[in-house]
Amino acid sequence: MALNKELIDQIITVTSKAAISCHKFVGKNDKKSADKAATDTMRNEINKLKLNGEVVIGEGELDEAPMLYIGEKLGSGGNINIDIAVDPLEGTNFVAKNLPGALSVISVAEKGNLFNAPETYMDKLAVSKKVPYDATDLDFSLEKNIKNLADSLNKDISNITACLLDRPRHFEIIKKLKNMNVNTKLISDGDVSGALMVTDDKYNVDIFLGVGGGPEGVLAASAIDAYGCKFQGRFIFDNERHISRAKKMGIQDLKKKYDLKEIIKGDSIFCATGVTDGDLVKGINVKDNKCFTETLVTHKGSNMCKIVSRQDTIKT
Ligand code: FBP
Repeated sequence: MALNKELIDQIITVTSKAAISCHKFVGKNDKKSADKAATDTMRNEINKLKLNGEVVIGEGELDEAPMLYIGEKLGSGGNINIDIAVDPLEGTNFVAKNLPGALSVISVAEKGNLFNAPETYMDKLAVSKKVPYDATDLDFSLEKNIKNLADSLNKDISNITACLLDRPRHFEIIKKLKNMNVNTKLISDGDVSGALMVTDDKYNVDIFLGVGGGPEGVLAASAIDAYGCKFQGRFIFDNERHISRAKKMGIQDLKKKYDLKEIIKGDSIFCATGVTDGDLVKGINVKDNKCFTETLVTHKGSNMCKIVSRQDTIKT
């Protein structure tokens, strides 16, 4: 199996180092420098590994960004061929403003098993594994999803909580949820974490929905797969550039709704290391030149979902 324990450890190191590298930008109101630090470190760390990786979900295309771009080849070669989805710094505003929830995130799958898509928005839905698969759907009305969810969980609608990004594009949904007496958890950013709130009762979120970043959707899908929860996404190709790029990537049906199994197949590893404290993991904690990290790690192949704590030294 290519995605073995050694590779899991290596990917934890990659996101941990990337998170550590942008820690110094926490509260510095400089999201570009924080993102660049995380990106450069992630690239350097993956390039140390003996693998043939290709970025299939990244930050833009080669011509537009010095970031980890779609199509970029990573790794120093060898027999392990993997697709990589990256978000070196998820929640750039959180780091800039010293707010909770910033993460450094990666997902890897065996070559050909991770969806290859341009960086665009995605309409998303995620629910816990306790909800029967057919009870919710991106194509159902909001009312139908909420009613089915409440029935499946044997809860009153007033005890259902929906998590979504607090954005003007969601005003209508938020209004409808209020009218139905559904509780909302409105997040200012960071919808990888938002989607993962459905994985455990402790977060008290029954459904994650709404439009956010497509890359973040693919990353969340990978972790959600290991938890056995449901995820659906529909990319939003609403300008000529995205449409032509999607077509070049072989996406024929631009309105297609993707189930989790079409976004990520087979085995996968997901790692998210905290930069600032958040719901999923604690952020970087520096004490006496030592640096403590927490990483949420999932591995589909071994049904592993756990938090790994590590200690590193800070170079001065
Ligand atoms: P960045 O870390 O790239 O700033 O993304 C943060 C984020 O909140 C994502 O979690 C989310 O998917 C996306 O931005 C939403 O985009 P927008 O801010 O344009 O609504």
